[in-house]
Amino acid sequence: MRPADLIRFKQTGQSITMLTAWDSLSAAWVQAAGADAVLVGDSLAMVALGHATTLPISLDGMLHHTQAVSRGFQGMPSRQPLLICDLPFLSYQCGEDLAVAAAGRLLKESSAAAVKLEGAEPEIVAVIDRLVRMGIPVMGHLGLTPQAVHRFGYRRQAQDRPSQERLLRKGLELEQAGCFAVVLEHVPAELSGELRRTLNIPVIGIGAGDDCDGQVRVTADLLGLTPQQPPFSPALVAGHHLFSDALKTWVTQQKSVPPTREELRQEPDC
Ligand code: KIV
Repeated sequence: MRPADLIRFKQTGQSITMLTAWDSLSAAWVQAAGADAVLVGDSLAMVALGHATTLPISLDGMLHHTQAVSRGFQGMPSRQPLLICDLPFLSYQCGEDLAVAAAGRLLKESSAAAVKLEGAEPEIVAVIDRLVRMGIPVMGHLGLTPQAVHRFGYRRQAQDRPSQERLLRKGLELEQAGCFAVVLEHVPAELSGELRRTLNIPVIGIGAGDDCDGQVRVTADLLGLTPQQPPFSPALVAGHHLFSDALKTWVTQQKSVPPTREELRQEPDC
């Protein structure tokens, strides 16, 4: 799968599915599920590493997890899902040269074929333009942008008409800068439909209603593994309870098995 395939999906009316992965095990699950694209999202800082926000993860950290995800895929690379890696906080905000070096490293040292970054401030649009011209496919991210948590929080974005019009303009700027798709997070559903009809590139929603060209979910949320479930992403299974109950059963069974005579005989006298 390649970035251009996602644009073709939009043109031919096929819905796009994207799931996150953070290690080889989760990569194998989402590939087996048939996801079109797999995102090594920086949400892994919270989901897998226990941080309170996505800000602490480094470029080396993202690379480490992306390499693990690459190793979890099976089969010919051309038949694998499109692998996209989030550029972490401060890897693309400090100038275009540094952003090219960071994104280039992710593509050189893993099998990621694209990067995702958040926002559409003029500096960010300039970075996207440069990355795309250097041959690095970019997915944008609008609406709730977790790297800007200290500015906007985790609340639903674009609730009034002026901010909705601003977001539509930003979407167009991302498309003009060369993004091949945009993630739209936690915004009113009507706005997603409007953006989807405004842009030629796919709008992939999360907490943004059904009127999108595709949907993305944090896999750990869908599996019920995360302690704090976002309100817009309900779990499909109670994974945390399922797994911890299974392990509790095993531990209880082991504790209740009496040692065999053989084992007792082998106990050292001390
Ligand atoms: O980091 C992430 O997992 C994401 C998704 C919420 C789209 O950006």
